Amino acid sequence: MTTTTTDLVALGPDDDLFTGWCEVWTAASLADRPDDPPRSGTEHVALGRQLVAPGGSRDGAHRAAMVDGAVAGALRVILPVRDNPTVAVLDVAVHPAHRRLGIGSALLADGVRLAAARGRTELIAEVDEPGPDTAGRAFALHHGWTCDLLETHRDLVLPADEERLSAVETEAVRAGAGYEIVTWRDRTPDGLLDDRALLERRMTTDAPHGDLPVEEEHWDGERIREYEASHVARGRTVLSAGAVRGGRLVAFTDLQIPLAAPQRAHQGGTLVLREHRGHRLGARVKVAVLRELQGSFPEVRRISTYNSEGNLPMVAVNEDLGFRPAGFLSSWSVRL
Ligand SMILES: CC(C)(COP(=O)(O)OP(=O)(O)OC[C@H]1O[C@@H](n2cnc3c(N)ncnc32)[C@H](O)[C@@H]1OP(=O)(O)O)[C@@H](O)C(=O)NCCC(=O)NCCS
Repeated sequence: MTTTTTDLVALGPDDDLFTGWCEVWTAASLADRPDDPPRSGTEHVALGRQLVAPGGSRDGAHRAAMVDGAVAGALRVILPVRDNPTVAVLDVAVHPAHRRLGIGSALLADGVRLAAARGRTELIAEVDEPGPDTAGRAFALHHGWTCDLLETHRDLVLPADEERLSAVETEAVRAGAGYEIVTWRDRTPDGLLDDRALLERRMTTDAPHGDLPVEEEHWDGERIREYEASHVARGRTVLSAGAVRGGRLVAFTDLQIPLAAPQRAHQGGTLVLREHRGHRLGARVKVAVLRELQGSFPEVRRISTYNSEGNLPMVAVNEDLGFRPAGFLSSWSVRL
């Protein structure tokens, strides 16, 4: 390996250096995923502030790798504090002009040290893989990490095919008599808040996590409000649809739209409580939120979603709606 003189600097989202730190993510994203709008600086700053603010559900730290006075690499460490006390999530990016010089490895080593100092023994990282032979995969393998979960990335190109949407909807309405569909934006209605928290909790037990060393997350209404506020602070709006029976929310789906670059929306969670499955509620809430999206944000051209191929019901719903494969997202771990 060629080496370079690299200083690692601790920084926060309101430091001057943070602009250069954000630019590294942008340059890496444009090089590695040219079809995707990069995450905006506003998003990085808001996420950073959430991580360093006291009292939230996650702590975190940021490091910049400096070469000749400029930021050449970036590290973010996320530490859950309400659950998963042994876990740390690391994210590393190196500017394409400074790769294969050991900068990524230096940042990773610092992230491991930071995590260990906080008592974390299970480290997790994600690699976006639009095609084969990604640098992130080679880097993770080089450092002895294990791939614990592989999810297929699927995209739905908008506007969705109306005939297809109506067919899915008609069948879902027939199968789900007795359930009312509700929609909201950015803020779960107060009366459904505790049910929404239970659904988020079930996301961490019922959605496939492969061999990732993660445990059930603790969600309550307050944490949902924190989560909702963090999306707004990051410049995103979230459209949601839910299924209600007897006044209780039993299924939900979320779509996140980055307002500064709305061409691409992201599918958030979708879950139907176990005892309400088999009524096509997953398809029904997804059609409902898709109709909201197309009515309110015609500028969105694409929705991206990630599913484990073992999640047959979710993959089937997405394929029925017209989502098609567009690469992979791999999740890696190492135990200290
Ligand atoms: C992955 C990434 C962080 C690597 O940064 P880097 O500074 O180039 O990494 P290093 O120089 O420390 O590489 C260490 C080793 O990883 C492996 N590696 C890294 N990039 C590779 C590539 N493109 N092809 C093959 N092997 C690679 C090599 O074994 C390398 O050692 P070598 O150069 O002596 O052969 C960088 O490519 C990047 O920012 N990618 C996009 C974001 C990402 O995927 N991050 C990983 C998720 S945490």
